[in-house]
Amino acid sequence: MSFKVSLIRGDGIGPEIVDATVRVLDALQADIEWEEVRAGSGAFKDLGTPLPEETISSIGRNGVVLKGPLETPIGTGFRSINVTIRKHFDMYANVRPAKTTPGLATRFQDVAIDMVIVRENTEGAYAGIEHVIPPNRAAAETVILCTRWASERIVRHAFEYARRCGRKQVTLVHKANILKETGGLFLEVGQTIAREYDDIAFNDIIIDNMCMQMVRRPEQFDVIVTTNLFGDILSDLAAGLIGGLGLTPGANIGNGASMFEAVHGTAPDIAGKGLANPTALLRAAGMMLDHLGMVDKGRRLEESIAAVLAHGKAITGDLGGRAGTAEYTDALIAEIGG
Ligand code: NAI
Repeated sequence: MSFKVSLIRGDGIGPEIVDATVRVLDALQADIEWEEVRAGSGAFKDLGTPLPEETISSIGRNGVVLKGPLETPIGTGFRSINVTIRKHFDMYANVRPAKTTPGLATRFQDVAIDMVIVRENTEGAYAGIEHVIPPNRAAAETVILCTRWASERIVRHAFEYARRCGRKQVTLVHKANILKETGGLFLEVGQTIAREYDDIAFNDIIIDNMCMQMVRRPEQFDVIVTTNLFGDILSDLAAGLIGGLGLTPGANIGNGASMFEAVHGTAPDIAGKGLANPTALLRAAGMMLDHLGMVDKGRRLEESIAAVLAHGKAITGDLGGRAGTAEYTDALIAEIGG
């Protein structure tokens, strides 16, 4: 049976890494029929809207979307389309694995890092509840929203993920010492739900200490569950530990639809130059293959990526190599074929 998947090529380096990913999935003979739709700044320029209705209905119909990064104007302009899609489809769990690639030279190459950040994706500081106070933007307020319901849902997702993937520990990251109400509620929910999972160790840590611990001893973390803003920041930190943004994927899981993407953005500094590393999106596609039940193809993809990176011949610039997107993708396809 062939799976129909919505495909958004996106802005900046998006089209380059999406095209590379589609080539690699073809080489894997993944049974996917793509339905290409538009979103982001490019769509806004060409179609007058950053999120056409057809894109929403395609995602709703297919239930799965692979997405290149989308540009969000800073300070003014339309709201983040990434956030809008996640909210529209209630994609409440943002799952971002960060794992050491053996043989790949990184700052932390002697440490076996294997952590998965499970980020609450619908509320917190990103609930979109903000306003300015006149006159002349004298002040601005953003509301941090934390509901018991959404907190329970994400913490349970983290524990279920841990159980399903044979993981041993869940760490809840918060700032309940200062954000006594929102942080306090999130922590209380975590502590309560943890009691239902006595096969998985549970601990909690304050966000500032977490940043320090992740740099000093990242190997101590397994599954991490946290609120929206902290999860956003920590996943970039985790990406930095294992070799950079070019390597880390993310899945946005909802009950009706799920979206797979790279953690990184549109990389405007290298867009259109054929230099982008497609690995993060490829790994996101690997998570998508797992999600669709093509677990063997997902494993094969990850093994091939690891082999090419460890071999060290076709490495992109962000990882210290000289290969462009095409050369790296060719090496990967050769590895899959061979
Ligand atoms: P960015 O992630 O685009 O770039 C940060 C740095 O990492 C740049 O030096 C870039 O060249 C490098 N980089 C990122 N991905 C790379 C890759 N695959 N290969 C090689 N190098 C890579 O972050 P930035 O500059 O803060 O954001 C640019 C735009 O992306 C903004 O409009 C932002 O809103 C958007 N963005 C979109 C996201 C999404 O669609 N999920 C996520 C994050 C940012």
